[in-house]
Amino acid sequence: MLKLSSRSEIPVFRVLDILRIVNERAAAGEDIIHMEAGQPSTGAPQAVLDAAAEIMRQGNMGYTAATGMPELKNRIAAHYSDRYGVKVDPKQIVITVGGSGGLMLSFLACFDEGDRVAMAAPAYPAYRNILLALGCVPVEIESTLAENYQPTIAKLEALKEKPQGLIIGNPSNPTGTMMDKKQLAELTMWCQKNGVRLIADELYHGVTYGEPADTVLSTSTEAVSVNSFSKYYAMTGWRIGWLVLPLDVVDRVKRLCESLFVAPPTLAQHVALHAFDHTDVLDTYVARYKKNLEILKAELPKAGITKLSKVEGAFYMYADISDLTDDSEAFCRALLDQAGVAITPGTDFDLTRGHQTVRMSFAGATEDITEACRRINAWMTKWNKKAQTA
Ligand SMILES: Cc1ncc(COP(=O)(O)O)c(C=O)c1O
Repeated sequence: MLKLSSRSEIPVFRVLDILRIVNERAAAGEDIIHMEAGQPSTGAPQAVLDAAAEIMRQGNMGYTAATGMPELKNRIAAHYSDRYGVKVDPKQIVITVGGSGGLMLSFLACFDEGDRVAMAAPAYPAYRNILLALGCVPVEIESTLAENYQPTIAKLEALKEKPQGLIIGNPSNPTGTMMDKKQLAELTMWCQKNGVRLIADELYHGVTYGEPADTVLSTSTEAVSVNSFSKYYAMTGWRIGWLVLPLDVVDRVKRLCESLFVAPPTLAQHVALHAFDHTDVLDTYVARYKKNLEILKAELPKAGITKLSKVEGAFYMYADISDLTDDSEAFCRALLDQAGVAITPGTDFDLTRGHQTVRMSFAGATEDITEACRRINAWMTKWNKKAQTA
């Protein structure tokens, strides 16, 4: 047998596997409520889609500059000034193939093989998987419900070896938890003082339910901010995102972009320019997620699912179900098969404790979330941990 690289032997991204299976079953006619997918059920606002059609009619879709169109970089820089009061030089911005492209580019530019990169567990699984593919060493810091599932300075200081990097998700996928301005500033300063490169996944900015999320760029000139049009802007399939980089990292990323991608997708860049003009529509999506969140907070405890993450952003609720099962995969499979509700086991997000947790996405329609709660409630009366684990 011809050689396959060991670096590509990374864990399966189970959420995407589940998504594929659930989509196949739904297409075959099964009545399934989707709470597994991390994407808005409504696409980009109609005006953005209309602009896309117009651009298609006019456009010569040639390559753009490797790091993206200057107009889009200028528009993103203006967004930082409007939303956060932070001055960002358009030269710091690189347009990427989704936030995923931004994660890979920033890890490649900032870390070498063997470098240790810390993150909270649970975390978005691609952080670990991309690092593994690059030969870096993910250092997972167990975070708890009481710690709001975010990394703490005390736990970072307690690590045997200082890491070269730290990745944070703020707000977090899978927990929806957030660091407040002060916590974020303290963590950013700790990284700066300790020579730890901070990569902040800020993909869910805009999707917050109380205080807006602050950016690491408010306090750091050394941190990297990863962002995307996928979540708040509801453009998952357009595969377009951006990085804000310290100036000394930009040239490295530019060289990587040239050879890895030539350029980000031209159509998606043009369309993304329009996305900033329709925040009135996008904010109605966020209002819907907020309503969905309130329903889950009220209904899940009635069904016996009580240990819930304190969701302040993104569209995920993470639940510790250790009192209900030690096999979250079997729990999710049974819920799907017997009640037609698709949720995700925590095993993707937390290698050690994920067998006792689940993630629920509430980016769907409010009627679906209401019906899902009704089904979960009815089904839970049948679920009995002892019977399942005997
Ligand atoms: C925390 C987080 N980061 C990055 C991504 C990648 O998103 P995209 O590549 O669509 O921008 C996702 C997608 O779900 C995510 O939840």
